[in-house]
Amino acid sequence: MSNLFPTYNKWPITVKEANGTTLIDDNGKRYLDFVAGIAVCNLGHCHPHVNQAIKNQLDKVLHVSNLFHIEGQDDVANQLVSNSSGDLVFFCNSGTEANEAAIKLVRKATNKKKIITFYQSFHGRTMGSLSATGQDKIHQGFGPLLEGFTYVPFNDCDALKAVVDHEAAAIILEVIQGEGGVHEVTSEFIETINMLKEKHKLLVVVDEVQTGIGRTGKAFGYQHYNLSPDIITVAKGLGNGFPVGGLIGKQHLIEAFGPGSHGSTFGGNPLAMAAATATTETIFTEEFLNEVLDKGNYIFSKLKNAIQSSIVKQVRGKGLMIGIECHQDVSSFISSLRDDGLLVLNAGPNVIRLLPPLTVSYKEIDQAVESIASVLNKVTVNSN
Ligand SMILES: Cc1ncc(COP(=O)(O)O)c(C=O)c1O
Repeated sequence: MSNLFPTYNKWPITVKEANGTTLIDDNGKRYLDFVAGIAVCNLGHCHPHVNQAIKNQLDKVLHVSNLFHIEGQDDVANQLVSNSSGDLVFFCNSGTEANEAAIKLVRKATNKKKIITFYQSFHGRTMGSLSATGQDKIHQGFGPLLEGFTYVPFNDCDALKAVVDHEAAAIILEVIQGEGGVHEVTSEFIETINMLKEKHKLLVVVDEVQTGIGRTGKAFGYQHYNLSPDIITVAKGLGNGFPVGGLIGKQHLIEAFGPGSHGSTFGGNPLAMAAATATTETIFTEEFLNEVLDKGNYIFSKLKNAIQSSIVKQVRGKGLMIGIECHQDVSSFISSLRDDGLLVLNAGPNVIRLLPPLTVSYKEIDQAVESIASVLNKVTVNSN
């Protein structure tokens, strides 16, 4: 009998050891981990540089609060702004908190309430981020939601034009919807967003909680497109497993987040900053990011060649954020792969999502593709 609220349908695995792309459970079974803590351990489990940075910081200062200057905050902020379109950073502890901060900031900066988000988006579980999320199943039972959100079908330019007017404070989007099924934004949609931004002076917020920190082969996913967001939200991969989130904003927003306007007791704490400094300085190099792109191209072509099953509708994504959409529910495939020692997850009912550590080796990619192909190639649309 567990004393935990059953908010998660947990997998039957207790991890005792984690290293790189490998997890070892309490029975000694080894798994190839293509989940990476849900796009968190981008440098692999127990990355020596990150872990050492946390250990070094632990015995110096653990916590003092944001009443003090915390050295590491400037280092991480510098990494984030010099690798993005932003100028200023606010630190928090998670993705949902980063999006809460974004919702507050756009409202205060524009003095407007209306925020446009998209169906199948996912922005988090606290009331603001939950209200921003365009999925009924996430809202169920938690109303009344925060007012002011308008949801539009993703990549539908006419639908977006129809709802954006001078009352719009912001558009919030994921450039690749992660939880919603690994759906990539189109360049036409980006151009529509840019046109509306110019016309109505609204703010553009990109939720990079899943796509950020090198996941797609760029520091941030939006950098694949012609987009210069006013606000970028990050979390997940920023601390390689240590909880940390952040909002990166442009200089013109400085007044709206002045003293006393927003805060977090733990946001930007010394341990989180040590982890984030080590993580970002490792990932934000041209060489590292180009390798992610190369591995992404490699896994795409391998998957396309290896999967013969008509069960697969489409393989899509960018870098090492990959969705394999099938013609049926994928939960049985995910359990078969787990039994075979490969951990993957779903994105909606019909999509198998691969989010390996960015440090995954070519050999591990070959192994994973072989397992996926052997599970999927046994099934055909007709046999179901
Ligand atoms: C795009 C996106 N935004 C926000 C969140 C919420 O992040 P957290 O679980 O850290 O609150 C997630 C989590 O999956 C996400 O994928």
